[in-house]
Amino acid sequence: MTATDPWPPPQYHAEVTSTNDLALQLALRGAPEGSAVQAGRQTAGRGRFGREWFSPADAGLYLSVVARPDRAPRSWSLLTLAAGVAAAEAIERTTGLRCDLKWPNDLLIDGKKFCGILTEMNAEATRVRHIVIGIGINVNHASFPTELQTIATSLRLASGKELSRVELCAALLKSLDREYRALLEKSDARESVLKRFQERSSSVRDRQVYVEAENGGYEGMTYGLDPRGFLQVRTLQGLRIVLSSSVHLR
Ligand code: BTN
Repeated sequence: MTATDPWPPPQYHAEVTSTNDLALQLALRGAPEGSAVQAGRQTAGRGRFGREWFSPADAGLYLSVVARPDRAPRSWSLLTLAAGVAAAEAIERTTGLRCDLKWPNDLLIDGKKFCGILTEMNAEATRVRHIVIGIGINVNHASFPTELQTIATSLRLASGKELSRVELCAALLKSLDREYRALLEKSDARESVLKRFQERSSSVRDRQVYVEAENGGYEGMTYGLDPRGFLQVRTLQGLRIVLSSSVHLR
């Protein structure tokens, strides 16, 4: 995952609890940057806020990659957005389908989610030990459990055809590598991620949203991203910055 290292193929497992769990364990044991884990099925696939990620056998792409940036934790808040842009570009190139990014970690087609990103970090106050970027894509799912039917889709349902997870995985790793390397090496990479994320998102601006918060949440209108990649929402009380809450589109 760096300019000099070769691009290692992912370690494949037929079944794991969660590829993020496995990648975090590998990273703790010293796995090098760019180490990737892919699974045919996850028995405890998870998303943000401890939500379950539906991970049936041989239908989805379940992938986690280890990064070891040598910068302060603060500057890595943008990595989830960069991974989203990388996933959207890889999927569009491979399938021709247009993806809509929903801040901070969802990819949608026709308003339904088919891809989610879970970035987990092991850090000290001023140093990142490692980051695991976990990406789940609903690729060849033909149907979903009742509770997901109105909110989830797959690339197969959207395109009407089965897709190669191998091809998709290769395109995704390449695209992730490019975005990550740019963030490490190019001074304008952060602006570029913010720009492309906003261009690819129909909801990051001028969209009525409900933001979950501990004190009950609030309604507002999205107002783009701030320079750190946080979502800005205009409310009757003024501009609010969303750091990590759930944002529901209205
Ligand atoms: C979300 O939508 O909240 C994020 C979902 C992330 C799911 C992926 S699947 C591969 C990796 N392993 C996990 O347990 N989660 C991520």
